[in-house]
Order: sequence, then structure tokens, then C-alpha cells
Amino acid sequence: MNEEQRLNKTPDGSEVKTEEKDYSQYFNRVYQPPSLKDAKRRGKEEVEYHDDFQIDERFREMGNGRKFHIQTYGCQMNEHDTEVMAGIFMALGYTFTPDRTKADVILLNTCAIRENAEDKVFGELGHLKSLKRERPDLLIGVCGCMSQEESVVNEILSRQPHVDMIFGTHNIHRLPNILHEAYMSKEMVVEVWSKEGDIIENLPKQRLGHIKAWVNIMYGCDKFCTYCIVPYTRGKERSRRPEDIIQEVRELAAQGYKEITLLGQNVNAYGKDLEDLDYTLGDLMDDLRKIDIPRIRFTTSHPRDFDDRLIEVLAKGGNLVDHIHLPVQSGSSAILKMMSRKYTREQFLELVAKIKKAIPNVTLTTDIIVGFPNETDEQFEETMTLFEEVGFDTAYTYIYSPREGTPAAKMQDNVSMEVKKERLQRLNKLVNETSAKAMAQYEGQTVKVLVEGESKKDPEVLSGYTEKNKLVNFRAPKEVIGEIVEVKVTDAKTWSLDGEYIGLVKQKETV
Ligand code: SAH
Ligand code: SF4
Ligand code: F3S
Repeated sequence: MNEEQRLNKTPDGSEVKTEEKDYSQYFNRVYQPPSLKDAKRRGKEEVEYHDDFQIDERFREMGNGRKFHIQTYGCQMNEHDTEVMAGIFMALGYTFTPDRTKADVILLNTCAIRENAEDKVFGELGHLKSLKRERPDLLIGVCGCMSQEESVVNEILSRQPHVDMIFGTHNIHRLPNILHEAYMSKEMVVEVWSKEGDIIENLPKQRLGHIKAWVNIMYGCDKFCTYCIVPYTRGKERSRRPEDIIQEVRELAAQGYKEITLLGQNVNAYGKDLEDLDYTLGDLMDDLRKIDIPRIRFTTSHPRDFDDRLIEVLAKGGNLVDHIHLPVQSGSSAILKMMSRKYTREQFLELVAKIKKAIPNVTLTTDIIVGFPNETDEQFEETMTLFEEVGFDTAYTYIYSPREGTPAAKMQDNVSMEVKKERLQRLNKLVNETSAKAMAQYEGQTVKVLVEGESKKDPEVLSGYTEKNKLVNFRAPKEVIGEIVEVKVTDAKTWSLDGEYIGLVKQKETV
């Protein structure tokens, strides 16, 4: 469609005379601004459950001869959302291109967790300006968590006119309509629902891997940790029905997938919102472990809801891996209180003791924030000692980043950035040393590796991950890609292990 045709069509495709088109009205129709306040209101309205998603007849040919490219930032949720959007694009007839200069539609699936995540996206939008100038027919879209923020939408509306579409995390299933409107309209199409929190079951998915797969078990977060933007960008907690999850995992097992990661921002809250069922994450894991798939993980756990039932089920082992990512955020009870994490240092240590007693071989990893407003030297030291006391293998560490609209962003902060950076450096030194020590223990041991493919650095070398998520590099025939093999570790580095291939692991009997 050329520019003239675009101008002369309304979103539903009917012809209009240009002079009769009322742009202000039209803009009202397509522009739904996000609101952090609305996002915070957890209404009593029912979560709607849909399993009737269909590609509208009139959109079926939309992608014929067109290519799409999606650039993904942020966490596994976003990576999985990208797989869903890729599925929708392909159902519309588009093909994927890894080369964005060849794409007809480029989406940036964004993350809002810290300021630097947002800076990267704005940087990228700057680069895309020239591409759009060269190819005015190119459609550029911003989706994901940043598009749930009013300030971001306003910034794009006022300063990034080369963006054609902004849509939110609850609007993914509307992608065909949004694309259609973007092709028809000269205005930026903005569709972001703040309070929505539905479950849409049968969206198409184009999974990026054949060996490992993500499976959402729940969406949203109601924890409202005071520093965190996620409850505002992802809506309220809502669990998928167990039968839908079990069915999806069964299908993935039948397709030959070897590892499943169950996804949720706070997976331990799974099931709480299922009013007609008394069913928790422990129950779900107990049902899933009976499926013939070698490895099942979940992320992310909140310490607060990590209950005895879950520990008891995880202790049964089998395909439930003995690695738990358990973000602690801080070792100081006073800071944890300010963060509204709803547990103390002591309670966290009790939980760890319980987990270790039930699963003696368990590996724990964590997330830590340094430099929360007014964190004292002593409080930071408590984080350092907690990290050692728990015996975490490793940690993702971050400097606190104020997020507009969150309670912590309003707190006065007396800690300078210089001090925060020093603290991060000290913590990272400890984390690196600990990680190196944890890796050194593997020297001489035989580990089971799910082989994912050629190593990034050397195509002659294969690489994969152990049950405890350690990266292993070794030489072996390419046929073992996708299999679980035994490797004897010869050399441990800080972040990976080198080893010698022994042979295939025989498939375990299902439990
Ligand atoms: N749902 C997960 C975490 C998701 S965000 C959980 O509750 O554990 C991943 C990590 O980013 C968090 O664990 C936290 O360590 C970090 N994070 C979140 N908000 C942040 C902020 N405002 N500044 C710095 N780090 C932050
Ligand atoms: Fe954010 Fe806390 Fe929810 Fe995790 S549990 S997503 S840190 S609010
Ligand atoms: Fe980022 Fe959204 Fe995930 S803010 S960390 S992409 S839930």
C-alpha cells in the first residue's frame, strides 16, 4: 500500500476522503494511555479466561512477502512473549529475518526493570531512525514492559515520531489488529491496557529452541516490593489452569524437548488465585515430575511463599533439578522491611536450612540489590555475610535503580553513587571468588550435560548445561546435540567448566 492509499483508508479498511477524516477522533480511538495508578488498583474483576484466539480472516494474508524481526530485552518472560509474538507473525504469513535491515516490521520487546535497561532501548530507537528514513514503509513497534509506563509512552509520542506502534504486555494477542491499524494509519498506534489481567490459552508460539522450552505457569505479580516496577508492568497475579500447563508440558515432552523452565515472577504464589481449586506449586511440580521429560526447573521463587509442600516434592528429585534460584535482595532485616520483602534475615536463613535438610545436594543462587535508599555500611556488610552464610553458588548483583511510580523512588537517599559502586565492586569480588570455588569442586567429577550446540567461541567444541545450570565445554561428535551426556570435568573456570566427553546417559525410567 502506498502513502496515498494509507491516507485514504480508515482502520477498518473503508475508503474516506482525506479532507473528511477527523484525526482527533481517530487518535482517541487508537490511543489508550497506560497508567501506573490504574495498574496498582487490583480490582475485584474476574480474570477472563480465553481459549478461542483466532487470526481474523481479513488478516490472514497480511504478512505474505513480508519479514519481521524482534529484538528482546529483559527476563525469560519477555523471551517467551517474543516466541508468542513470533508465532502470531508466522500465522499472519510473515517470515522471520535475523537481519533487521531486511525486516518490514521491527519490534523492540523492552524491559523496564532498571534505568540502564531503558537507556539501551532509547539508544536503539535512535539507531532505527535512519533505517526508517531510508525505508518509510518499515513499521517500528515498541512493546514489553516499558510500554506499560506512562512516561515512556509520552516520551515516544513526543520525541520518537518514527515509532509506528506501542503496545503493552496485556495486548500481545491484539498484534494482528495493531499491525493492521499501523498499516492503515498515519498516527502512532498506542494500545496499552493497565488493569487488564486475562489468560489467553491458545496463542500460537514459535519456540526458538528445540531442546529447552519455557512454559508460563502464571502471569503478573502482587508482591509490590517497594523498588520494583514489575507489578505495574505485568498486571495482577493470575495462574494458568493446571490441566493446561500439564498438557503443554506433555506435548513438549512428546516433541522431544529435554528441559522445561516454568515461568512466573513469583512462582510460589502459583494457584492462590484459583478459587475452585486447592492446588499449589508443590502440587503442580508433583504432577509434572511424572511426565517423561528429563529436566524441570522453575523461576523465580519468592522466599516468602516457599512452603513445606514444595520442599517435600522437590526432595523427591527425579526430573526436578536440585538447583533453586532464590532471590534474597539484602541480608539486612531493616532493608528487607523497607523493600517490603516480608521476611527477615533470620527467616530467610531458616528457609535455607529447611531446604538444605530436605535436599542435601541443593545448589542455591540469588539476586542482590546494593545501595537501596539509605543503606548503611553495616547493613551492606550484613548482605556480604549472608551471602557467605547461605553458601550461594553465585548471584546476580545490581545497584538499586529508582523506578518512577514505585514507593522507593520517593524515598530520600543519603548514599552517594560512588559508595554504591564501591559496594557493588566488593560484593562482585566475593561473588566471583565464591563462584570460582564452587566451580573448582567439579574438577575430576563426572557431570550430566544437556548438550545445546556448538560453543560460541569454537565450532569444534560443544557446550551445554548441567542440572545445576553450570556451563560445560567439551569435544564430542555433533550427533549428541540435544542429548544428555556424561562429561568428566578437567578444568574449572569462574563461569564455565571444560571437560572430556564420556558418552550418552541412558534415559532414566520415569518416576
Ligand atoms: N520476580 C523476581 C525478580 C524479577 S526482577 C523476584 O522477585 O525475585 C529480577 C531482579 O532484578 C530482582 O530480583 C532484583 O534483584 C532486581 N531488581 C528489580 N528491581 C530493581 C531495581 N529497581 N533496581 C535494581 N535492581 C532491581
Ligand atoms: Fe518485583 Fe518483588 Fe514481584 Fe519480584 S516479587 S517481581 S521483585 S515485586
Ligand atoms: Fe524486565 Fe519486564 Fe522482565 S521489567 S525483568 S522484562 S517482567
